[in-house]
Amino acid sequence: MTFAQPATRRRAWLALLAATVTLAAAEPPAAPHAADDIAALKARIAELERRMPAPELGQQMLDLQLRHDRLWWAGHAGNWNLAYFMVGELGEALRGIEASNGDAAELQPDRLAEVMPAMMNPAIRAVQQALEKKDPAAFAKAYDGLSAACTACHQRAGVEFLHIQRPRTPLLDNLRYQPAAPAAEVRP
Ligand code: HEC
Repeated sequence: MTFAQPATRRRAWLALLAATVTLAAAEPPAAPHAADDIAALKARIAELERRMPAPELGQQMLDLQLRHDRLWWAGHAGNWNLAYFMVGELGEALRGIEASNGDAAELQPDRLAEVMPAMMNPAIRAVQQALEKKDPAAFAKAYDGLSAACTACHQRAGVEFLHIQRPRTPLLDNLRYQPAAPAAEVRP
């Protein structure tokens, strides 16, 4: 079997490309009803989205519980960058709940989309400010304020028995909280 010279091969490719372009150009124009079809499809998608159940608030709260826990251990270890990252993630999780569950039945007649930022944003900001100062005592105080804000909303929603506090044991321990590994932890 012989192989074509590069120039011949290039010509063959160009011919193929030209044929493809010609074929594409020869395709019939979009059907006159295409716009109607697209509008109908869009309406159908919007209808299906309306029918999708809102996420379960309790499930979303478990995510908050985890982030609240990890923030404590990062700040407690004086790992300021990690703690700053964690409080940012907690803020994002709150924004996600507000966007996806803004009319949660549990908060009615109040709107979660309004209650949540009003109660949580100042507490989140206070934690960020303490972290910016790299001040352990200020962090602990702001963290307790954050937990109190979580509990305050639980009170408002009639689930006051869900009292949020400082954790005593990390929920997960496969993420290093110490800014640098102590020598004893370095194992071959
Ligand atoms: C806007 C009000 C509001 C805020 C703010 C709020 N929660 Fe909740 N949380 C609720 C409601 C309402 C429930 C009960 C949900 C249910 O009935 O399933 C709940 C439930 C929970 C639960 C129990 C979840 C379960 O099903 O086991 C935990 C844990 C929790 N929240 C943690 C937190 C933490 C941590 C924060 C703060 C970082 C927080 N919540 C902030 C309203 C709030």
